[in-house]
Amino acid sequence: MRLGLDIGTSGVKAVLVSPEHQVIGQASAGLSVSRLASGHAEQSPQSWLDACVQCMDELHANHSQFRDLRAIGLSGQMHGATLIDDQDQVIRDCMLWNDTRAWREAGALNQYPQVHQRSGNWIFPGFTSPKLNWLRTHEPASFERIHKVLLPKDYVRLFLSGEYLTDLSDASGTGWLDVSQRRFSKTLLAHSGLELQHMPGCVEGSDPAGQLRDALAQRWGLNHPVMIAGGAGDNAATACGLGITQPGQGFVSLGTSGVLFTPTARCLPAVEQAVHAFCHALPQSWHHMGVTLSAADSLSWWCGILGVTPAQALAQLPASLDGPTTVKFLPYLGGERTPHNDSQIRGQFAQLEQATSQADMTQAVLQGVAFSLLDCLQALTQAGSQVDRLIAAGGGSASGLWLQMLADVLQREICVPQESGSIAALGAASLAARAIGEFESTRSPSITQTYVPNPALAEAYAKAHRDYQALYHNNKRDIG
Ligand code: XUL
Repeated sequence: MRLGLDIGTSGVKAVLVSPEHQVIGQASAGLSVSRLASGHAEQSPQSWLDACVQCMDELHANHSQFRDLRAIGLSGQMHGATLIDDQDQVIRDCMLWNDTRAWREAGALNQYPQVHQRSGNWIFPGFTSPKLNWLRTHEPASFERIHKVLLPKDYVRLFLSGEYLTDLSDASGTGWLDVSQRRFSKTLLAHSGLELQHMPGCVEGSDPAGQLRDALAQRWGLNHPVMIAGGAGDNAATACGLGITQPGQGFVSLGTSGVLFTPTARCLPAVEQAVHAFCHALPQSWHHMGVTLSAADSLSWWCGILGVTPAQALAQLPASLDGPTTVKFLPYLGGERTPHNDSQIRGQFAQLEQATSQADMTQAVLQGVAFSLLDCLQALTQAGSQVDRLIAAGGGSASGLWLQMLADVLQREICVPQESGSIAALGAASLAARAIGEFESTRSPSITQTYVPNPALAEAYAKAHRDYQALYHNNKRDIG
């Protein structure tokens, strides 16, 4: 048996998978984010451990096969700064991937010569490195205590195995990795006042990277030693779960964040387009990624305002849409990465009138997210990636209406995979299998449904998208 554990932003998901690729059981546990000031987003690392143990206890209680566990794969939300002292104690709550407080520090890091060539990326405020520069100025006592800086899933690994290790796909989002050379850069670390010794060891996602501690193996009465794989950042893990390893393949994710992901044959930086150029989770492979910070998160926010669930809000919309709504929504609740790289922008509704209904505004939220993903697709195209068909992932992909809208806005086929639950956790489980030498051929998932773009709507959506982009530029000027 293999276990995939995905430490997401809104919760932990666990899947138990047999050697024959059958999902034996699934468990999940929710997580919350604290937002104590504008642009801040933090989580307690202890809450990840509690959620992981809860999921594993549940799988152990419900599935006798859990005792035959042989390998664990970890997937996790990227970029978070989990700061550990020399007693392995957490120094402060983790600043997450969508925490943009370090925008000034990111701006300063981007000024260093060669930082883009070395890291392969624009250093976004949500990356790990600017957070450490912020900490150095604002919480120097915490900075002084740092023994290791770990990414969220690697803090879970420390708990499970006692090892300080990470994988290259997740390490790509720190801002300290030389992405083309696949190793941490002393020069990039020095810009944050850190050294190689502050980093965990770095392995490929499919490499062995720790073994489950005896105390935990005993807690669950496990029959064999359990290997922990390098694992992956949640987006590379999702790609592994969907068999996306070759250029031309791609997925679109409607998770808390929105992501467009496609593999590249080599490291292909596209800094001007604010495209992420990261290592993939398999050896000698890389990928491009466009990221919009609030995708399903925008819908959750709007439903929170309405006091309804997303399913209730979506039920107010017609079964199919005959084109764009004139109401506009900019989904920039916590700033934006691709393509604007603008941490100061905020969300906005526009074009409201007396006749505007709650349903119109819900449609505008879905449409704003779809437009931000079109911005990502255009940025990836400019960066040299071509994707004609996208597989859907993330919680928001449960809505057929949203997927049809995405197909119409992106003018790409959107395919729904059969795999239910967390695809990132399934991808992590496949990396676990590789780590114990069980070769997993990269299989294409079975597709249960394909949303085909309606060419008759292409021009109407293209015009509405131009208006949306103009609204961003006007809004940006207003904020100054
Ligand atoms: C990727 C990113 C997000 C998080 C969400 O760069 O910041 O997709 O990984 O978990």
